[in-house]
Amino acid sequence: MPDEELVEPLAEVKGIATFEDLNPDPHITEINLFAHYTEVELEPGEKTAVMAYNGVAPGPLLQARVGDTVVVHLYNQLSEPTTVHWHGLRISDQMDGNPRIMSPVEPGESFTYEFVLPDAGTYWYHPHVSTIEQVERGLYGAIVVSEEDAPEFNSERIVVLDDVRLTNDFQIASFSQAGHDIVHGRAGNALLTNGSTQPLKDSVGRGAVERWRLVNTSQARHMSLSIEGAAWRVIATDGGLLPQPYTRERLDITVGQRFDLEVTFDGEPGSTVEVIQHVLAVVDDEVQEVPFVVGEYTIDGDEPEPATPNYPQITLPEIPTQAEEIVSLLGGYNDPEKGVVFTINGESGMDIEDVVVPQGVPHFLRVKNDIGPFHPFHLHGQFFQILTRDGVDALEPGLKDSVFIGAFEEVTLLTHFDNPGEWMYHCHIPAHAENGMMSQMIVTPAE
Ligand code: C2O
Ligand code: CU
Repeated sequence: MPDEELVEPLAEVKGIATFEDLNPDPHITEINLFAHYTEVELEPGEKTAVMAYNGVAPGPLLQARVGDTVVVHLYNQLSEPTTVHWHGLRISDQMDGNPRIMSPVEPGESFTYEFVLPDAGTYWYHPHVSTIEQVERGLYGAIVVSEEDAPEFNSERIVVLDDVRLTNDFQIASFSQAGHDIVHGRAGNALLTNGSTQPLKDSVGRGAVERWRLVNTSQARHMSLSIEGAAWRVIATDGGLLPQPYTRERLDITVGQRFDLEVTFDGEPGSTVEVIQHVLAVVDDEVQEVPFVVGEYTIDGDEPEPATPNYPQITLPEIPTQAEEIVSLLGGYNDPEKGVVFTINGESGMDIEDVVVPQGVPHFLRVKNDIGPFHPFHLHGQFFQILTRDGVDALEPGLKDSVFIGAFEEVTLLTHFDNPGEWMYHCHIPAHAENGMMSQMIVTPAE
């Protein structure tokens, strides 16, 4: 018998059940991932036909520790090709689900993804082909990678925020290839929190300190949240913990992004904490913010042992005063035959020239939105920091892989291109990416 190494169990993450780990080695998480058709209850008592991973939408939570190996056996039981992209993980490009590198997994076929988790943080997974339909129909799930010396909380929760467009009988509405759904991306008519139209509910002790991990997996909904009745601050972004937590009135999460919050239940016993999503809607012919409660927590007495999380020291990559520049102009036009076409630097899709950069050399990435709709810009395989918006300091600290870019806004990002390989970058609104706003950056390995 080899010596049993003592490995602390991972903290339980409430909200979504984890995968069954088939590997007894505590440093290897090995799972079966079935992409198939099934029915789920998005609305209580109603069955919705979906595409799902392992029978649930969102798919099971993939939870492991930084440095662990993950082995995923994907079985495609759909009648169309698919791949899995591990959004935010800085792994090898061969495992990234990029259909320009790996041929998609055909119906009835399987593929094994294997990688080592390089960074702690909150991430997610989804297909990288036919994303307009596959993600909307239910193929998406969250990933939690714990720190080596993870801070301790009274509870950890995963909160996957999504929206979906349902018909009157609670089926996924049909997809249109033109018009508003392409120009702005497909907006849902039902908000989903961990795959349900109902708010999350729980009771919590006064004084409890929790870690919430929020993910926006929607097609095209920029989310704006507030938490009423509890104190909270941002402790982590896409790329993991921050050097310094910060506070805001609202938490804005654009498509693809993640934020971890430290939430302190400092209200009186008997009081309620509400998580409110502020949704833009047309009311009386005017665009207004309408509050939707997506979480409801009752304080039911005192937490016997309030946690005092001990955050590891984090330093972000240095910000140079000068660096090479890459300019990406996000645009689009109306083609009489093809309809709306989206572009980067005037070209569309495969016509866009790849950007080639050497590994480890810092670059300023100037991304300018040259058209009306917002774009949640996403770069695979690397993290970046958001430096400025229209020349003004962005005050959005932390490592990110996704960023909101408003109409006609110019955002300056800093990336060090640490991870060699072929990396897609694109708008995370699938209707934009699949209609042209998607290309690659090739990071050539350092000697
Ligand atoms: Cu979340 Cu290229 O994707
Ligand atoms: Cu876009």
